[in-house]
Amino acid sequence: MNHLLDIQEQTILAVEKAATFIKSEIGKTSNSDIETKALNSLVTYVDKEAEKILVRELQKIMQDATFLTEENTIATTHGEWQWIIDPLDGTTNFIHQVPVFGISVGLKHKDEIVVGVVQELNRNELFYASKNNGAFLNANNIAVSSTTTLADSLIATGFPYYDFEHLDNYLSVFKYLMTSTRGIRRLGSAAIDLCFTACGRFDAFFEYSLSPWDVAAGAIILQEAGGKVSDFDGGNNWLHGRQMLASNALLSADLLQVIQARYK
Ligand code: 2AM
Ligand code: CA
Repeated sequence: MNHLLDIQEQTILAVEKAATFIKSEIGKTSNSDIETKALNSLVTYVDKEAEKILVRELQKIMQDATFLTEENTIATTHGEWQWIIDPLDGTTNFIHQVPVFGISVGLKHKDEIVVGVVQELNRNELFYASKNNGAFLNANNIAVSSTTTLADSLIATGFPYYDFEHLDNYLSVFKYLMTSTRGIRRLGSAAIDLCFTACGRFDAFFEYSLSPWDVAAGAIILQEAGGKVSDFDGGNNWLHGRQMLASNALLSADLLQVIQARYK
């Protein structure tokens, strides 16, 4: 069997174990369970426990792979293979019982994400992909939309919630897209925004102040579905560069132009 397909299968099993745990905790957290890591950045025992489950299970797949995780339950180390994990993407939604949150697990080999698994926990939608093997939603092949004009597009974004230095640039892009597309949506989970773009529900997604664990898995799912990811300059620094423009590829040039004209 293709090595990456084998890893993908095992990663899905690990994600399903963490998913069972998180689902059993929906609606059980109270204010005393919520910690504030930084401005508007919330975490609960559910995030941390889910991460421990993932780390334990993923360590069984590749003994020498290192980890980069949002909740730091294991030290960040670097190596040829690295798991990049957000145990609960959309924690604010989870706490408020807004049903858009999920698990995001990416596997990086050298400088490239090669496996991605995102499980949306309310609709039980499992998105996954591995390098050159296509992208899937619950075992069905997925592809990006064929929308070619901004006028026909639905765009996802995330609002800035702590880094307000570039807020005016962001709002200028937002205003332009608000008046030149079918609409803008803000779900509250970057991983799910990317997967919804991968399966053609959204035509594009853009956000700044992102972390690697928000985008690692979703990026390869989108790429394998025929989409394109870049930073706001059109370059490749999206994993650690904190900015992402993701699209069905057809809208990429138009959107880059919109962003670059307003994001200096
Ligand atoms: P999280 O729930 O794993 O923290 C991009 O918006 C990412 O920022 C989200 O995927 C979300 O991931 C994170 N985030 C953290 N706090 C947020 C907030 N108050 N509003 C929006 N996103 C937030
Ligand atoms: Ca998280």
